[in-house]
Amino acid sequence: MKHETLTVLGIESSCDDTAAAVVRLAPDGRAQILSSVVAGQTELHAAFGGVVPELAARAHAEKLDLCVETALQQAELDLRALDAIAVTAGPGLIGGVLSGVMCAKGLAAGSGLPLVGVNHLAGHALTPRLTDGLEFPHLMLLVSGGHCQFLRVDGPQDFTRLGGTIDDAPGEAFDKTARLLGLDQPGGPAVQREAASGDEKRFAFPRPLLDRPGCDMSFSGLKTALLRARDAVVTEKGGLTRQDRADLCAGFQAAVRDVLMEKTRRALAGFAGPIAAQPTLAVAGGVAANTAIRAGLETLCTDLGVRFLAPPLALCTDNAAMIAWAGIERFRMGARDDMTLSARPRWPLDERSPALLGSGKKGAKA
Ligand code: KG4
Ligand code: ZN
Repeated sequence: MKHETLTVLGIESSCDDTAAAVVRLAPDGRAQILSSVVAGQTELHAAFGGVVPELAARAHAEKLDLCVETALQQAELDLRALDAIAVTAGPGLIGGVLSGVMCAKGLAAGSGLPLVGVNHLAGHALTPRLTDGLEFPHLMLLVSGGHCQFLRVDGPQDFTRLGGTIDDAPGEAFDKTARLLGLDQPGGPAVQREAASGDEKRFAFPRPLLDRPGCDMSFSGLKTALLRARDAVVTEKGGLTRQDRADLCAGFQAAVRDVLMEKTRRALAGFAGPIAAQPTLAVAGGVAANTAIRAGLETLCTDLGVRFLAPPLALCTDNAAMIAWAGIERFRMGARDDMTLSARPRWPLDERSPALLGSGKKGAKA
């Protein structure tokens, strides 16, 4: 299909990363990331054991214009070379989303450029089209500190939620596990490191919800099981050895892997039925960086003849290139927002199947 060239600035500030990026869609249909700037806030929140919404919002407000300026500089463009400004309008921590929406509105008002509000989750779900030019439909597994859901993606604004967590996101469970074992934050990489020298079979952790049909998941019980197992070892021996810690991490990680594999198998069975072409499973989110989980999902896909796609890590975790891209997709469908665009703490992608969740450590979940 022929396209006009579209160059869009994306802005992201829904959780604890302030980000700006410029993405261009060329007439041949190929997308190019001209720049992608991410300013994280890990140190800012380190002492609090989770993201503090007020601190996050203030940091976004302070850093957004600098991130935008840097993104434009790195792309060697000024605002006049853009076709639109795309911004995350939700879901997320409301103060941060508001900071981004206000910044985008200011830029749009000053430059006369069209404004496009983007759902953060759509940004994740459409990323494989930015990175690999993937055709619709595909199955997306979003697994991060704030999200955990299976989405059937049929179009830029056509998502069906097949299932998701009914409580915590897996990243939250990794982070909590790390805290319970005295490991550094973010917990995922630390738990993975320890698990490498552990025996995953020593502790029998539950595989929650496998006995129930469908692809909903639950991870909060796993955290509690870990706490009990830790306390039992401490009571018995008076403390934890390095090997105890490694075994606990390995057991926990294996439980998350097994649940994700089995639920993915079910989601693929529901997804793959009606379409003839080779189905694709794409993953996104920080937890998709976990080598054991990734290997498990890859093996499952190979066994089922399903294509497995994992965008590069910098595009799996929160970034603004995915927002610019989702903005391009919406813009091409004629979507335009104006100064009435509002910031939404909750914004399920699939309005027919809203998530059951409340607000978690890493922000509002959908
Ligand atoms: O996508 P992300 O950067 O941010 C959002 O939550 O939106 O994901 C961060 C989460 C954290 O909870 C972190 O512990 C987890 O992803 N994570 C991992 C790994 N790397 C990051 N979890 C398991 N294994 C990893 N290697
Ligand atoms: Zn995200």
